[in-house]
Amino acid sequence: MSIDLSGRVVLVTGGSRGIGKEIGRRLAGAGAKVALADVVDEAQIQASADEIGRGAIAVSANVTDPEHCSAAVSRVEEALGPIDVLVNNAGITRDGLLIRMSDADWSAVLDVNLKGVFNMTKVVARGMMKRRAGRIVNIASVVGITGNAGQANYSASKAGVIGFTKTVAKELASRGVLVNAVAPGFIDTDMTKALPESARETLLKLIPLGRLGGPGDVANAVLFLSSDLASYITGQVVVVDGGMVM
Ligand code: NAI
Repeated sequence: MSIDLSGRVVLVTGGSRGIGKEIGRRLAGAGAKVALADVVDEAQIQASADEIGRGAIAVSANVTDPEHCSAAVSRVEEALGPIDVLVNNAGITRDGLLIRMSDADWSAVLDVNLKGVFNMTKVVARGMMKRRAGRIVNIASVVGITGNAGQANYSASKAGVIGFTKTVAKELASRGVLVNAVAPGFIDTDMTKALPESARETLLKLIPLGRLGGPGDVANAVLFLSSDLASYITGQVVVVDGGMVM
């Protein structure tokens, strides 16, 4: 059975590049009407939407701002219709060891990665609950499960996303809204390009499948969780990491 999302409206945050853009591309490929929301310059988001084609639209939004989230959702719903699938993908890193981590770096990461997920979910969930249908997929990380030296802020934010996912899954299950998380391992994107070659080689040795993941590996898990094939799955964390964490 192939996955068919024909007519479903999908909002992907952080959708202008990397994993978010690939999620948009794969879901659009399955027939969905896709909106990419991002904090970067609108022309950049538009270029990604144009690249995806199939009627994908670009929306400017900073997920840390609840008003931006409300405005973005209104814009998507006017243009494409009620949102069926929300993918909370926007995320940042500000790595550093705990004793050297600034308040600003702690707060910036928690604000985007965790509060951003709360902000967007709260706005979108309201309509989904009324319609008694919907899917929410939150992009967490394996470091939210294992921890990682140098990422106290990031791993705390992603552990928070996992706890949030399970709670919201319990709250919304009776309304037909399914909420899951995808926890990627080491995925080759702009976010990880900053790592020195030596760190990449060390990480590679920890991956049983012997390669970094690509954005498509994560997008495929999101595609599945957004589809009718996953209609009995909620509150779960799907790890996409080549076997790194077992
Ligand atoms: P990326 O840095 O290439 O893309 C992140 C996107 O989020 C960018 O387009 C950025 O503009 C957007 N964004 C940042 N702050 C925002 C805000 N306040 N409002 C709206 N959009 C905002 O990163 P990548 O690698 O594509 O990561 C996507 C998600 O996957 C993130 O949540 C990240 O934490 C997660 N992840 C990535 C892994 C990797 O190895 N690349 C591993 C595990 C999780």
